[in-house]
Amino acid sequence: MKFSAKAIDLSTVKADCLIIGTFADKPSTHARALEKLSGITLEDLSASGEFEGKSGQLLPVYQANKNIAKAILLGLGTRDKLTVSGFRKAIAVAAKVTALKGYKTLVIFADNPEAKDCNTKQTAQACAQAFVYNSYQFTACNSKTKKKPSTHIYYACDHTRDANQGLKVGQAVAEGMNLARELGNLPGNICTPTYLAGQARKLARGNAKLKTQILSEKQMQALGMGSLLSVSAGSKEPAQLIVMEYKGAAKSTKPYVLVGKGITFDTGGISLKPGGAMDEMKFDMCGAASVFGTMHSLLMLKPKINVVAIVAAAENMPGSKATKPGDIVRSMSGKTIEVLNTDAEGRLVLCDALTYAKRFKPKTVIDIATLTGACVVALGKHATGLFSNDDEFADTLLEAGKNSGDRAWPMPLWDEYQKQLDSNFADIANIGGRDAGSVTAACFLSRFTEDYTWAHLDIAGTAWLSGGAKGATGRPVPLLTEYLLKQ
Ligand code: BES
Ligand code: MN
Ligand code: ZN
Repeated sequence: MKFSAKAIDLSTVKADCLIIGTFADKPSTHARALEKLSGITLEDLSASGEFEGKSGQLLPVYQANKNIAKAILLGLGTRDKLTVSGFRKAIAVAAKVTALKGYKTLVIFADNPEAKDCNTKQTAQACAQAFVYNSYQFTACNSKTKKKPSTHIYYACDHTRDANQGLKVGQAVAEGMNLARELGNLPGNICTPTYLAGQARKLARGNAKLKTQILSEKQMQALGMGSLLSVSAGSKEPAQLIVMEYKGAAKSTKPYVLVGKGITFDTGGISLKPGGAMDEMKFDMCGAASVFGTMHSLLMLKPKINVVAIVAAAENMPGSKATKPGDIVRSMSGKTIEVLNTDAEGRLVLCDALTYAKRFKPKTVIDIATLTGACVVALGKHATGLFSNDDEFADTLLEAGKNSGDRAWPMPLWDEYQKQLDSNFADIANIGGRDAGSVTAACFLSRFTEDYTWAHLDIAGTAWLSGGAKGATGRPVPLLTEYLLKQ
C-alpha cells in the first residue's frame, strides 16, 4: 500500500475506486461533482432513504463515467459537527470494505480544510491508518497463501504538505499496530519468549538507531530477578528479558521507558485456569506486542527522542518445577513476595522489569499489560485502564488516548487499597482478594516504581477481541505513539 497526497480534479480523475465524503445536511462539493458525472441526485437518494449521509453510511455508484469504475459515497454526518473521531469511525467503515479489494488506484475525496476539529493532517492520518489497518490479514498459519493486493491510495487535497505528514504518521501507526496484531495472533507454540527475542533482533537489524540486548535466565538470576524467574520455572521455554534502545536524541537525553508484559501463554500455572476460552491466553503477551509495535512505528518516523523498550517474556506453565501457591520468592528490588496464586503472574514478571528500568534514569515509565480479568469487568472492551503515581502524567496519557482514538480511563491507586496486599509470611502478597482486582494489581506494581514517574496500562479488555472477530487489536500502539511523538 502506497500513499500520496495530490491536488486532484474529480471530473477528470481516472481510478478503480473513489471514496467521496459527504454530509447529511449539505452535500460536499465532491459529491456534487459526482452527481454531475453520474446523473444521480443526492436529494432523491436522501428522500428515498437510500443514502442520507449519516456517519459511516456507504453508497456505491458504478461507472459514474468511463474513467471511474466505482465511486463510493461516504456519509460523514452533519457538516459543522465533524470531529476527527467521527471521521475516523466513518473512514474505517469504507476502508473495511475496500482495503483488500485489490484496486490499483483508489482516490479519497474527503478533505475538509474548513472543519474546526478535523484538519487536513488529521484527516489524512486517519485515512492512512484505516487503510493499512484494514489491509491486515493473518496468514502465517494457513496452508493456502492469500494474496496481498497492493493499492496506490491518493488523498485528494490542496494542502499536500500537511496531508503527506498525516499520511506518513497514519501509515506508521497502523503498521505498528499490525505488527502487534501479528505477534498477538501467533499461537503460543510459535510465539515463545525465544521467538519474541528473535523479533527484537529482527527489528534492530539494519537500524542504526536501535540497539537490542537479550538477557538470559542465567543473567537474570545474577541480577536477582527471582520473581520473574518464578513464573518461567514450570516451563521448558526459558524466560527472556528483551531490551531495545531507540536513540533519536543525544546520549545524555533521558529516555521514555516502555515495559511490556510478554506472557506467551498463561495457563495459570499450578493455580490452573479453567478450560473455557483458555486459547485466548496466547494473547497474554499483547503488552509486549504493543511495545514492539510502537518501536516499529518510531523506527518509521524517527522522532528526536530516546526510548527504551523492556519486554519481560515468559511462559506460565504447571510442571514439576513450577512455583506453588505459598512459595516465597525474592524480587530484584529485594522485596520478598508470597505467591498465593500462580495465575497472578503478570505482576511477578513486571516487578523485576520495572526495577531493571531504573538503570536507564527514565523520564517516564509506562508498563503495558493484559494484567487482570477484573479490568475487563470494570471497563469492558472499550477503554484501557490507566493507573499512575503522577496525576499530570496520567492526564497527558489520557489526552494522547483521546487524540488518537485509543482511549484510556483513569483508575484509583489510593493507599487504602494497599493493605489488601499484606502477607503473613513475606513483604507482600501477589494477590489482594476479590475486591478491586485491577486496582490491587496496580498497587502491587506501584511498590516497585516509587523512584520515577510511572503509569500502568491494563489492556486486558482492549488488546484483543473475542467471538467471531477473534484477534489482536494492536491497541494501545496509537496511544503510545501519540504520546511519544508529542514529546
Ligand atoms: N492474563 C491474566 C488476566 C486476564 C484474564 C486478561 C482474562 C484477560 C482476560 C492474568 O495473568 C490473570 O490470570 N489474572 C488473574 C489475577 C487473579 C489471580 C488475582 C485474574 O484476572 O483472574
Ligand atoms: Mn494469569
Ligand atoms: Zn496473565
